[in-house]
Order: sequence, then structure tokens, then C-alpha cells
Amino acid sequence: MTKRPSVKEILEMARKGGPAQPAEASPAPVEEPATEAVAPEPVAEAPAPPPAPAADVPTPSQLGRPLTLKEKLAAARAGGAAVPAAAKPAAAPPPPPAEPAAEVEAPAVPPSPAPTGRPLTLKEKLAAARSGAAGAAPAAAKPAATRPAASVAPAAKAAPRVLPPLEKMTDPKDLAEALRQTAAKKEKATATAEAKPAAEAKPTAEAKPAKKEAKPQTVLPKPARPPAEAEAVARTDRRGFLIGSLFVSWVAVAWTAFTVGCVAFTQMMIRFMFPNVLAEPPSTIKVGLPSNFEPEEVSERFKAEWGFWIVRSTRYNGHDILYALQSVCTHLGCPPNWLAGEQKFKCPCHGSGFYISGVNFEGPAPRPLERFKVTLADDGQIIVDKSQKFQQELGQWADPDSFISA
Ligand code: FES
Repeated sequence: MTKRPSVKEILEMARKGGPAQPAEASPAPVEEPATEAVAPEPVAEAPAPPPAPAADVPTPSQLGRPLTLKEKLAAARAGGAAVPAAAKPAAAPPPPPAEPAAEVEAPAVPPSPAPTGRPLTLKEKLAAARSGAAGAAPAAAKPAATRPAASVAPAAKAAPRVLPPLEKMTDPKDLAEALRQTAAKKEKATATAEAKPAAEAKPTAEAKPAKKEAKPQTVLPKPARPPAEAEAVARTDRRGFLIGSLFVSWVAVAWTAFTVGCVAFTQMMIRFMFPNVLAEPPSTIKVGLPSNFEPEEVSERFKAEWGFWIVRSTRYNGHDILYALQSVCTHLGCPPNWLAGEQKFKCPCHGSGFYISGVNFEGPAPRPLERFKVTLADDGQIIVDKSQKFQQELGQWADPDSFISA
């Protein structure tokens, strides 16, 4: 059993240009086998797996599950070694180094779902997308036959490419396009977010001057009324004015009357606080010296003004005395008259008669006339005090103040 060369050894041999690249075995240039190796057909069309590597690396159909990354790498290494064995009968006896080289470079290109027979995992898709985005040469080389690059570019520019869901993506170009679109969306969102505050700030700055300009508002003039309507309005205004004036006048009258009543009531209350003052004549009167009066004489000088007579007589108790008799009838208050011829006081009202002493003797008068107080002043004149009275029926005529001895 011969030892299988490793990848490093194969690469080393390819660089040195040793037996791996004989001029007869590989008439085509180096790039052509590489381009064909990238395509999935050579791997898928491997007719029969070599006996030794097939035993080492199981296929997905044998396992019944998709290959892991390690298994894929091992399969790639095994395939690199097995291909020369398969190519042996077809070409020259020495193993052609070109096909192993192509098989070694094949793992650099992400595996497509076709050779594995299963959908690509997320890691594989990302690796394929990176390789597709970075190294466009292998990707461009592969679809050259199916999709020309010149025709794709205008289509992409014209309309966005419709991509399948991420789980169903098999083409690395689709993944690269998805990444590119995602990045573009992010940039667009960032630009929109940055432009939003600026757009919001602009209207605010522009709104301020608009507010200032809105301040001076012009008031439109009222539309002119038709003549009939204007007349009706004027009539209504006049009626309202008259009613209002009447109401206002009545209110004014009421308030004026109320104010006058209040003032009058206040004045009455103030007047009530002060007593009435009567202008009465003095109660004491000087009537002159006692020697001025003759015996058995009745002086009527003071009757009209002061309401009393000054009498000098000896007929009451035999003594010559002076006294003052009130000129008021004791019946109903009429003023009696002195009748010198009859030597009596006669009441004109009901005919009562009184002696010169004042004692009643006829008519309805029930009692004698009353005396006023009499005294002598310092100058010897007689003073009559009307504030004090003396009644004969009460025995008061005996009081020394009721007479003066002559
Ligand atoms: Fe003098 Fe009647 S009033 S008698």
C-alpha cells in the first residue's frame, strides 16, 4: 500500500513543477483546470470512489445525515488524493499533478448543495458569502456560462433583486447580496434618524417668525346692512333705549325716595335725643313796694300778663295783709272778673262767685281760689313766686309765705 500524499506535499510538488504537471498530461493551461475544479460538476461526476479513501470518508448517503465540517475537510483531502488514482487509467501512468491541485483548491470555494445533497448550514452560507464578496474571481468564473455579468449589472441597477429566504439560500451571490442590502438598509436608517431631528428643528425655527407675523390681525369691516333691516334695528334700539330709560328712571326714583326716607328718619332720631325747651316766662315777678297798694284794694295790673291779682285786705282774718290770688276759676278754669261795685270775683263761664278773700260763695266752683307765694326782696319790693301755690281748704293759707303783713 502506497502512502497517500498530503495536501502540503501536493502543493509543494505543484510549485516545483515536478511530476505533478507533465506537459503531455495537461495540454490546457493551469487556469482552465482550476476553473473547472471550482464548478461542482467534477466533484459530482466522480465516477467511482477510490477504494481506500471511500472506505475512510463515508458519503452523506451512507451516513444518512449531512456531513460535518471535519468530514467535509477529510472528504476534500481524500478526494484530492483519490482523483489521481481515478485519472490513472485515463491519462499517462504518472499521476497528473494538475487535478490534485485543482482538488486542493476546491475546499477554498464553499460547497454548493448539489454535491452534498443537503441544504447549506449557516456557517457554510456565511463562508460562501464572504468568499463570494471578497474574491469575485471564482464566483464570476462559475456563472459565466449561465448568467453573463454584463447583463446582471443593469438589471440590479434597474430593480432590487428579489432574494429567497435566508434558510433556502444556496447561492453565495444571493448571500452576498443579502448582506449588501442589509448594510444599505442600516445606512439608510442611520441617515434617516440623523436627518429627522434636523427636519424637526427646521419647522420650529420657521414657525417662530410665522407666529410673529400672525400677531397683527386685521379686523374686517362689518358688512353693510340693507336699509329695511337697519331701520328695524334702529327701531328696536330706540324701544330698548326708552324701556331702559324708564326702568332706570323708576329705579332712580325708588333709590332717591329710599335715601330721603333714611335721611329723614335719621334726623328724627337725632331730634328725639334732645328735649323740647319751652320759652316760659320767669316764675318770680317783682310787683313793687307794699306801700304802693291801698287797703281793701284789688290790683288788676298783673292779671292779663301774669295771671294773678295783688290784694290788700283785712277781711280774711282781721289782719291787714297782702297776698296774690291766681285768676283761674276752680270750677273749669275760666278767668273770673273783679267786680268792684259788688266787691266779689265773678266767673263769666258758670257764674261762680268769690269774696275779696278768694273764698267761693256761689256758683259751681267747689273751692276757694289759690294763692301764690309772696316774699319781700332785699330792696323791700314784693316778689311773687308762681311756682308755689297755697290752697285754703288744705289750711295752707296760714303759711307765712302765702301773705305779707302790710
Ligand atoms: Fe267759673 Fe265755671 S268756670 S264757674
